[in-house]
Amino acid sequence: MARIFSGIQPTGIATLGNYLGAIRNWVALQDSDDECVFCLVDLHAITVFQDPAALREQTRQMAAVLLACGIDPARSILFHQSAVSAHARLAWIFNCVSRIGWLNRMTQFKDKAGKDREAVSTGLYVYPNLMAADIHAYHATKVPVGDDQLQHLELANDIAEKFNHDFSTAFFPRIEPLVLKESARVMSLRDGAKKMSKSDPSDQSRINLTDGADMIAAKIRRAKTDPEPLPEHVHDLSERPEARNLIGIYAAITGQKPHEVLHHFAGSGFGPFKEKLADALIAHLEPIGAKTREYLADPTSLDHILQAGARRAAAIAEPIVVEAERLVGFLPRG
Ligand code: AMP
Ligand code: TRP
Repeated sequence: MARIFSGIQPTGIATLGNYLGAIRNWVALQDSDDECVFCLVDLHAITVFQDPAALREQTRQMAAVLLACGIDPARSILFHQSAVSAHARLAWIFNCVSRIGWLNRMTQFKDKAGKDREAVSTGLYVYPNLMAADIHAYHATKVPVGDDQLQHLELANDIAEKFNHDFSTAFFPRIEPLVLKESARVMSLRDGAKKMSKSDPSDQSRINLTDGADMIAAKIRRAKTDPEPLPEHVHDLSERPEARNLIGIYAAITGQKPHEVLHHFAGSGFGPFKEKLADALIAHLEPIGAKTREYLADPTSLDHILQAGARRAAAIAEPIVVEAERLVGFLPRG
C-alpha cells in the first residue's frame, strides 16, 4: 500500500475545472488500495494576502465542496494544513536544503510574481519548499496534480535527494506524479486559450460548483463559440479552442469520448448543443451544490471533520518529521 497526498488552495470557489481536473480524480483514488491524504493548503494560500474572514469562509467552503463531491472522511484523511505543525517545521528544514538557484527556475513563481518580483512575499518564493514538505511529511509516494505542478514535484524530489545526501540517509522516498489526462483540462468560457480559473476576474469565465441551475444555463448560453456548425471529427476542432472545450466538458461530464459526442452533434449549431450541455451540467452539479450548502449550514460539524482529519494526519506526519529533526541534529523535543 502506498500513500497518496494532494493539496488544494482554499481560495475562491471551486470551479468545474477543479472538479474535472482534480477533485473527481481524488474521489476515484479513494477506491484504490492506497491511503489518501487530502489537504486544504491554507499556509500556501497566505503566500498572497487573504482577508482573514474570507480565508476562514473559503476553507470551510472548499471542505464542504470536497465532501459534497464524495471525499469520504471515513476512508480518506481530509484536513487543513495549518492544523498540523509538522508541515511548517519540515518546510523550514527544506528551506535550508533547497537552493536559491532551484527556486529561481520555478515558472509558477515567475508567473505569479509578474513584473513586480521585489514586492511579492518571501512565502510565495519558498512556496515549492512547503509543497515538498507537505508530501514528504507523510512519506507519500504518489501525488495527483495537474501538469502545471510537475516542476514543483521535480523540485520536491531534488530536495529529498539532497536531504538524503547531506544527512547520509535514505529517509525520504522518491515521489511519482499521477498526472491527470489532457482531456481533463477545462478552459475559460470566455477564452479557449486560458485555463478556467477561480482567480479569473470574470465570473462568466467559469462554472462554480456552487452555481445554481439558472446561473449555469446563462453562463453556457453566453459561452464564447464560433459561427461554424459542430464538425464530425475531433481533429477538426484543433483550430477551434472554444468548441473543443465545450465538447470536452460535455464528454467529461457524461462519461463519453469527445468523438462519441461529435458523432451525436455533428452538423448541429451551438444553440441545441449548449442546451444539452447546460442540462447535463445542471444534472451533475445541482446535487453537489445542494450538499455543499447542507455542509456549510453547520460550520461547527465541518470544523470537527477537519479537526479529526488533522489528528489522523498528525499521527502520521509527526513521527516522520521528528525523525527528520533528529537527522538534522536537533535535540529531542522531550
Ligand atoms: P488551483 O485552482 O489552481 O488551486 O488548482 C487546484 C487543482 O485543480 C490543481 O490540481 C489543478 O491542476 C486543478 N485545476 C485547476 N484549474 C483547472 C482547469 N481549468 N482544468 C483542469 N484542472 C484544473
Ligand atoms: N501547489 C498546488 C496547486 O496549486 C497545491 C498543493 C500544495 C499541493 N501542496 C501540495 C499539491 C502537495 C500536491 C501535493 O495546485
